[in-house]
Amino acid sequence: MNPSIVDSSPFLYVRVVEEQQKVVKMDSKICSIPQEMMLGTGEQLFDHIAQCLGEFLESQDLKGQTLPLGFTFSFPCEQKEIDKVSHRTIIGGLLITKGNASDYVGLLVSSLGKLVASLGSLVDTLEMLLISLWMPVISLGMLVASAEMLFTRLEMLVVNVRIFEKMISGMYLGEIVRLLLVKMAEDKLLFKGETSEALLTPGQFETKYISEIEEPDSGLENAQKILTALGLNWDPVDACVVRLVCDTISSRSACLCAAALATISNRIRVNRGLDHLKTTVGVDGTVYRKHPNFSEELQAAVRLLAPECDITFLVSEDGSGKGAAMVTAVAQRIVEKYLEPFRLSLEKLKEVSVRLKKDLIRGLGKHSHHRAAVKMLPTFVRATPDGTEKGDYLALDLGGTNFRVLYVRVVEEQQKVVKMDSKICSIPQEMMLGTGEQLFDHIAQCLGEFLESQDLKGQTLPLGFTFSFPCEQKEIDKSILIRWTKGFSCSGVEGQDVVKLLKEAIHRRGDYDIGSVAMVNDTVGTMMSCGYRDQSCEIGMIIGTGTNACYMEEIKNVKRVEGEDGRMCINTEWGGFGDDGSLKDILTEFDEVVDQTSINPGVHTFEKMISGMYLGEIVRLLLVKMAEDKLLFKGETSEALLTPGQFETKYISEIEEPDSGLENAQKILTALGLNWDPVDACVVRLVCDTISSRSARLCAAALATISNRIRVNRGLDHLKTTVGVDGTVYRKHPNFSEELQAAVRLLAPKCDITFLVSEDGSGKGAAMVTAVAQRIGGLMTCLEMLVAF
Ligand code: BG6
Ligand code: GLC
Repeated sequence: MNPSIVDSSPFLYVRVVEEQQKVVKMDSKICSIPQEMMLGTGEQLFDHIAQCLGEFLESQDLKGQTLPLGFTFSFPCEQKEIDKVSHRTIIGGLLITKGNASDYVGLLVSSLGKLVASLGSLVDTLEMLLISLWMPVISLGMLVASAEMLFTRLEMLVVNVRIFEKMISGMYLGEIVRLLLVKMAEDKLLFKGETSEALLTPGQFETKYISEIEEPDSGLENAQKILTALGLNWDPVDACVVRLVCDTISSRSACLCAAALATISNRIRVNRGLDHLKTTVGVDGTVYRKHPNFSEELQAAVRLLAPECDITFLVSEDGSGKGAAMVTAVAQRIVEKYLEPFRLSLEKLKEVSVRLKKDLIRGLGKHSHHRAAVKMLPTFVRATPDGTEKGDYLALDLGGTNFRVLYVRVVEEQQKVVKMDSKICSIPQEMMLGTGEQLFDHIAQCLGEFLESQDLKGQTLPLGFTFSFPCEQKEIDKSILIRWTKGFSCSGVEGQDVVKLLKEAIHRRGDYDIGSVAMVNDTVGTMMSCGYRDQSCEIGMIIGTGTNACYMEEIKNVKRVEGEDGRMCINTEWGGFGDDGSLKDILTEFDEVVDQTSINPGVHTFEKMISGMYLGEIVRLLLVKMAEDKLLFKGETSEALLTPGQFETKYISEIEEPDSGLENAQKILTALGLNWDPVDACVVRLVCDTISSRSARLCAAALATISNRIRVNRGLDHLKTTVGVDGTVYRKHPNFSEELQAAVRLLAPKCDITFLVSEDGSGKGAAMVTAVAQRIGGLMTCLEMLVAF
């Protein structure tokens, strides 16, 4: 209940009123502990505490009752039993000089006994009322001690103890900054070499100033005010330097905390024999709460230091960790029952990677290809951009969230300037399920309108067509749709040449024409687009409506294409991984429902566990089940929650936002007509987090497989490469990319992968494919034709 070591102590009257609903009511009073008391005798201190408690009981009309008492005592104690502690060292701002208190509870009780006769029998009845609520918090809880309320100075403390705390906590941070500023001023690096009385006075640079000075917007202004108040003769550069000093000191604090927390989390993980630990830390303390980026910095460092631990940080709601503990307790029950099957250990991910590795080889094989779930389609793209490409191109981009028409001009070779005009055209849902002719007529119409608006109708420009569906490519301009995915199911297109269907639709109109066509998958477009910025980009990955990747494979391994030398980009179509049943062991009942209710049951199994088209639906099904099992929403559902597709994937990102997530969850649950309470909102967040984590980790396993393959192909011990990435899930989810990258580092430790988010979609890449072809001597040279398999 006491969040930190402070010079004031809250007294609380806590009633656990409804066991099932975990309702806790609290009344409290804060009493001050004067500084001299913090440095006086133990007897004085405990007499004071007993007196405050007495007054509190009086005010609550509780003096006649004999209640058990929970005592949060934020000092290091050797705990012999739940009601017996011995204080080992002197810490914080509390220096007890007399009394030799080895049993504070006893001491408190004896003081109470003197003061409040009616409580004398406490000595027999002491027990921790809320121990069950506190334990999860205490065991993982991390206390970053309060700054503002502590005035006891550094030199008052016993030296050589609590060294770690003195580098981290609020009691000391301001003083470290002050000492640095004094030194810098003396060395004539600040304040024109002058100090001030205030700056020379220990304790005068308060820790809260650090937070104020580091505020993103008002920080410099705050610095100036503070320096003025400290009587310093500053100039604007001084203010910036002071900010840098603050930032350095608070960063060190956050990173050291992260190292300690990573150690504890890893220990818990190893204790339990887990590859991957998912846990929650209840956190409190003014430094953590108030500093503008302490928490972010700490969390980022923990992710790096304990990549196998997936830690949720829950700031205690009422200063006691009660909220955190309750959510953790409820959440744990749910996690065990429903979420555990979605938690994939590192070992499991390694197994998945081994299976995919086999499937990649099967897909590339001449004779095994036809039964391979992962199709490994040759793209006839043999080179990535070298930056010298130029020219004017049209591009179409179909298959992601938006259908786009683009006019791309590579205007300055050296400067890599690409100008683009584009237009988004909608494709109504009925058209996605209508006839192929309707769809291609619509595409031709959108292109016609765009050419008109750009005054390009008279020109015959080459066109790059990003068509984000699995196609067997015979030539760069001959591309047979194998099957629709992601909600498209137009009749008469599967098995047909998409270029032919497009050209026919344009000819049916007869009002404009196009030049040569280069067909690319969106993964290829993304790789080429990023490849223009970073020439080591040789993998393209999409995690959006669907998921897929392409990479540069040694041509000698592409058995369906003739030739031994060089490389070719392979569109893996990894979304189909598992279609032969190889992922059965990790599929949950919810995945099966998603598959069965989709328009393409039985296909694109891997994609359905990962991509934006399906994530929201998995969450929805889980929430319905939990509500039906009376674990959420007081056992009630709503019409919206029962309607497929109503829990959109973008809600997952919104609910997982670090700051506004819980608030967003509440809004979304309200909009879905659900009768939620705050614990429900936390559980929904946990569900979202579990589902998006699984998605990120599965993608990581697949990407690690590909990177490792490239490394081994090239006989390298270590591969340095770049992945071009696109897709709303990757782009918009608050921590998807981090989670994915952390898992890839574990799964492919010998690959050093840079992730480059595609800047303006894959349309530019489609134009690049055409441009690369021109650069190296025409389509027939660059994008060789496969005449026969
Ligand atoms: C876009 C690309 O930026 O991302 C498309 O231009 C691609 O080609 C898409 O298909 C993938 O993301 P999403 O989320 O729109 O499916
Ligand atoms: C689907 C398509 C694939 C595309 C991916 C991402 O998996 O089959 O071709 O690359 O979605 O859009």
